[in-house]
Amino acid sequence: DLTRSILEWHMETARALPWRGEADPYRVYVSEIMLQQTRTQVAARYYAPFLAAFPTVEALAAAPEDEVYKRWEGLGYYARARNLMAAARMVARDMGGRFPDTREGLLKLPGAGEYVSAAVASIAFGRRELALDGNGVRVLSRIRGEERDITVPAVRRKLAAWGETLLPPEGAGDFNQALMGMG
Ligand code: ADE
Repeated sequence: DLTRSILEWHMETARALPWRGEADPYRVYVSEIMLQQTRTQVAARYYAPFLAAFPTVEALAAAPEDEVYKRWEGLGYYARARNLMAAARMVARDMGGRFPDTREGLLKLPGAGEYVSAAVASIAFGRRELALDGNGVRVLSRIRGEERDITVPAVRRKLAAWGETLLPPEGAGDFNQALMGMG
């Protein structure tokens, strides 16, 4: 029931964001890297122009670095842009242009941590993985009535384990984005 209410809440209230409904792994990957340390509304402004300049993983892999940094200007945290280029080259050159389709495979890309890997695996590949960022942890802790400090790793792990049991069999990507939206 809880899973269903979260999904329904999401369908009723979700903001129209440019990456919603996107299932192309490259485009999902770019959105999640942008969203890691940048507010949703800011990332939303950069998303379409970035993809217009670099429409495929091959295009990004072949792009001159200064062009990429220029499109990243204003998003900050340039290490993300550097890692994104390195990941694009790895996918384009070593993986035949295909992103890994599991959380574990995605984790090997430079710049893809636990959160991004689970987000892309669930959103682009329909994998049943929980993508939990700081906002998601807060949401779960409030629903659960968790009163302990959620920055304590053991508390966070417990919430994550509970969150995993809430994942729907299909549509984990929607569920993850519902938690993000609620957060
Ligand atoms: N924050 C991180 N990823 C997001 C997504 N896919 N949608 C909305 N907010 C996010």
